[in-house]
Amino acid sequence: MCEYCGCQQIPVISELTREHDAVIAQFALVRQQVGRGELAAAADSSRRIAALLGPHTAVEEQGLFPLMADEFPDHIEALQQEHRQIHTVLAESRHLVPGDPSWPARLMETFELLREHILKEQDGVFPASLSVLDGDGWARVEDVRARVGSAPPFERDHQHAHSHAHRAALSEGDT
Ligand SMILES: [Fe+2]
Ligand SMILES: [Fe+2]
Repeated sequence: MCEYCGCQQIPVISELTREHDAVIAQFALVRQQVGRGELAAAADSSRRIAALLGPHTAVEEQGLFPLMADEFPDHIEALQQEHRQIHTVLAESRHLVPGDPSWPARLMETFELLREHILKEQDGVFPASLSVLDGDGWARVEDVRARVGSAPPFERDHQHAHSHAHRAALSEGDT
């Protein structure tokens, strides 16, 4: 985690990190719902994640990543490819509960990918951004955020499990 490098002092990085935390908390909820066979609830939670990732991914892909692609081309390309993979699976439950019996397993695999993806950003791109972006660069990222906005915050029940879920999902790596 990039708690000590100083990148969390940058408002746009701090907001991206808070969104990661919210996604990880929601991910823990989806895992419980899938475990209980509550697929409609899991689809609903997945839609919340997709709603949050919309502007989040736009800030990364339209703001932060283009400014880092010269220096870290392979890393950025891999992260963008993962965005597409995650989006494809989340889109399956955009309007309904998928009838495909393999969907719950595919969803859980996708969230494992998303968790790894978040770690890569927080251990790699975010700390590295400090040495790559200048004031104009940060202003460009902030412009993208201002344009795309932020998803509404999750309901309080979902936020409640944040600290436990975050620890369990990121530190222990349990599945
Ligand atoms: Fe990302
Ligand atoms: Fe991210």
